[in-house]
Amino acid sequence: MKTKVYIIEDIQKDDKAIEEAAALIRQGQLVAFPTETVYGLGANALDGQAVNRIFEAKGRPNDNPLIVHVSKKEDIEPLVLEVPARVYTLIDTFWPGPLTIILKKAQIVPDETTAGLSTVALRMPNHPIALALIDKAGVPIAAPSANRSGKPSPTTAQHVIEDLSNIIPMILDGIVPCQVGIESTVLDMSGEVPTILRPGGITLEMLRPILEDVRVDETVLKPLTKGQSPKSPGMKYTHYAPKAKVIIYRGTNLDAMAAEINRRAEEYVSKGKKVGILATDETMDKYKKGHLISLGSRKAPASIASSLFNSLRGFDHIGVDVILAEWVEEKDEGLAVMNRMIRAAGFHVINVSS
Ligand code: TXA
Ligand code: MG
Repeated sequence: MKTKVYIIEDIQKDDKAIEEAAALIRQGQLVAFPTETVYGLGANALDGQAVNRIFEAKGRPNDNPLIVHVSKKEDIEPLVLEVPARVYTLIDTFWPGPLTIILKKAQIVPDETTAGLSTVALRMPNHPIALALIDKAGVPIAAPSANRSGKPSPTTAQHVIEDLSNIIPMILDGIVPCQVGIESTVLDMSGEVPTILRPGGITLEMLRPILEDVRVDETVLKPLTKGQSPKSPGMKYTHYAPKAKVIIYRGTNLDAMAAEINRRAEEYVSKGKKVGILATDETMDKYKKGHLISLGSRKAPASIASSLFNSLRGFDHIGVDVILAEWVEEKDEGLAVMNRMIRAAGFHVINVSS
């Protein structure tokens, strides 16, 4: 299958391309499209067969449910059993935006979309191309990130081409890289206590004034213990992994952390290995060996989030064997950054004492 890539500069001017993409969705086919978080791989969320094509194209285990995207807030109503009052407050505050809300599902949402769960994940993305596509398709769109399963999520059309070229019929290229750069916050509102299952662009600190009882699921920064089943099935798989092995160095003293990374980099280089160092603006000048990428300033965790996946893929392009990465503080968007980084590292974290 030859993949068509359409560059969308303007949703009015490029109306025909979006119309063609919407027609594919209605026919049960797949289209990759930009959102404000990452690129999504979309199919008609109400068509189980169409949704199965997503799992095939990504190589995704089919017990991992998908997020259903809508273009209007009221479009969630037919998809769920009920909308609790405070969910209306949440969507009035944060939609369109990087907040996915889990509610009890209505029968019209097929099991393929929710992997057999009795709940459904819902989100209204804040991106003109995504909204126009959903609107024109006239159906809610189920869309995971448009990467091959296990790889870092795509923040540019080029990343989608790397992973899914000739596997899917169409990619809409939004030109500008996805602004948030990390997937949406997944918030479970289907039970008594609101629970963040996956941290993202809408942070705990932002949710707290509206949901004072919100909590963060314990698996966000920790591996599952044996026999424990995750509330968000996606969190149990290897994720976001570049080809290189990733090791995280955690410490509060930046000098000590950098010294330890330098020591390890030296060791790898002496063994003939290519080393990548994932640093921050504050620590860039502390390193001597290896390929250096800064994620941005520690004072701006949102910008660190937006460059994380592109940096991991960047190291793949350089062809490093190992990536030594600095821990960043897990507050604000830093929690989402560490949730992704720790999975890219397969939970391999080295504590550096100061
Ligand atoms: O920003 C995003 O959320 C992107 C863009 C395309 O919207 N999508 C995305 O989808 O990241 P995906 O499939 O890569 O991640 C969806 C996550 C998975 O961890 C999945 O397990 C969880 O949401 N999830 C989906 N439905 C769920 C449900 N009913 N209960 C618990 N977790 C659910
Ligand atoms: Mg994903």
